[in-house]
Amino acid sequence: MILKRTGARVTVTAADLRLDLLEIRAFCERLSQKLAGLDAPLSCIDHTRQVLPELLLNRELLKRIVHNIVSGEPYPDVRRPTMFDNELILYVHPANLFSLRLYLWGAGEFTTPHDHNAWGVIGAAMEGYEVTNYRRVDDGSREGYAVLEEVSRLSLKAGETAFTLAFDEGIHMTGNAGPDTIATLHLYGKSHPRGYLNCYDMAGSRVHRLYPPRVKKKTLAAQVLTKLQGQT
Ligand SMILES: [Fe+2]
Repeated sequence: MILKRTGARVTVTAADLRLDLLEIRAFCERLSQKLAGLDAPLSCIDHTRQVLPELLLNRELLKRIVHNIVSGEPYPDVRRPTMFDNELILYVHPANLFSLRLYLWGAGEFTTPHDHNAWGVIGAAMEGYEVTNYRRVDDGSREGYAVLEEVSRLSLKAGETAFTLAFDEGIHMTGNAGPDTIATLHLYGKSHPRGYLNCYDMAGSRVHRLYPPRVKKKTLAAQVLTKLQGQT
């Protein structure tokens, strides 16, 4: 038993914190050996879908990780920049072969439809995670214009997974269709160096680019600097 009750308080020892990291690292190192021998994204996805349920159904590990977040422990690091504000990085492969991320979803919270820069396996640690997959039906030739068509909708039970692919082959919207906050674990393969995601407005038939926060701040700062320099 890792969590220890002391009166009304739950305490976690330093050894327990190391255990979380070690458990995640051991899982990822086993996966790393397997993925290093696979080239095709669908082969990587197949293998990852076989093993990720082991983590998704490890209730004690999830409990310890979210306890760490609530308690402000250093792992996982809530200050580490991520694309989405409900995302925490659990592991990044030393050669960036893949990363493992935890996502937390409030009741009724969904992403907008978006694409990806890598293959990914997305899995529910708790009931309520919903995935809607889309196909892009315009030819991409008009700047800022995009039309999506729904192709499938999945509701995942705890331990179940779905997958995504890079660019137009992996457009989806995901979120929490249930009444309680939930957690999901996503494992993404090596990223293509595009540097942004496409986000889609289906009602307006529009697409816009979502940049990582650090890139966005730097880009906007550069634009302001150019403006200011032009005024002197
Ligand atoms: Fe996604």
